[in-house]
Amino acid sequence: TRVVVLFGGPGGEHEVSCASAAGIVGNLDRSHYTVQPVRITRAREWVPGPLDFPEGAYTASDLTDVTPSRGMGAGDSLRAVLPHLASADAVVPALHGPFGEDGTVQGLLEAANVTYVGNGVSASTIAMDKDATKRILNSVGLPVADWALLRGMDSTLSEADRLRLGLPVFVKPARAGSSIGVTRVEAWEDLDAAVESARSWDTKVLVEEAIHGREIDIAVLEHPDGRLEAGPPLEIAVRGGQPFFDYEAKYEDKATSFTIPAQLDDRVATELQRMAVAVFEALNCSGLIRVDFFLRDGSRPVVNEVNTFPGFTAASQYPRIWAAAGLSYERLLDTLLRTAIA
Ligand code: DAL
Ligand code: MG
Repeated sequence: TRVVVLFGGPGGEHEVSCASAAGIVGNLDRSHYTVQPVRITRAREWVPGPLDFPEGAYTASDLTDVTPSRGMGAGDSLRAVLPHLASADAVVPALHGPFGEDGTVQGLLEAANVTYVGNGVSASTIAMDKDATKRILNSVGLPVADWALLRGMDSTLSEADRLRLGLPVFVKPARAGSSIGVTRVEAWEDLDAAVESARSWDTKVLVEEAIHGREIDIAVLEHPDGRLEAGPPLEIAVRGGQPFFDYEAKYEDKATSFTIPAQLDDRVATELQRMAVAVFEALNCSGLIRVDFFLRDGSRPVVNEVNTFPGFTAASQYPRIWAAAGLSYERLLDTLLRTAIA
């Protein structure tokens, strides 16, 4: 079975994607799969790597080394790489954030009639947009943090919104990931600067109430027979003094730790798993999602966000959750591919 692993991309999560792809490329079982990495540079140049890349322990820079940029224009390089995509049995879009996780690349793969792992166009588009996600989850009764939306150049949050949301608030670009462009605002006088910073990533900006409570992630996996399985809850512990699970805590702070399974009442754990599967169904997802929750007042789950291609290094939440459940990284990749091809 020939597999192309796509990684990189133009967004703020380029480096995270290279790290995810290093894990995936290194761990696909070579007794079943022939693996070709294909990098998308920040300038959207598509750069194919070797056709039969060996299994091994790779870092992000190992993968960028084997896919050196060729100075082709983005359009020329895409035309040159299309035959590689078209002859693959499946593509793994190991891409995070706008462009790779928002339906753009998924639409290209659909148009080229290429089988790919994970979520389709509409689920990817909706889940990448935190405002759209909240509206849909609200409509099926799934609790989300309250929010106000600022569009275009509008930066004014009404007095009523301020009263309703209270302080602190989180200011977020609607369509981004890894907490890029996110600020925790503790005083209204700091709101404008936070909106400015979010707006450099997206014209749609959310101002969201802060939920005080534990942060729990649930992984959902679709099996080849269509069965959906929710993994054991993972709790994120961020170092004291860190304002939230921000980019630095996610990727640079060794003091961030995960507990699997999180110490929770069985009733709460089951409720989180039920809700994560309900999110998967409400957004018409395929293959996999990771749903990130807060527990309001210690026991009431609130959906914080949905990731349609969650971080995928061996140390990332999604593979760690399945490893704790007895499904190794290699078998997890195999399950995702068999589901995509089924
Ligand atoms: N957006 C990052 C990759 C995550 O949620 O894991
Ligand atoms: Mg995310």
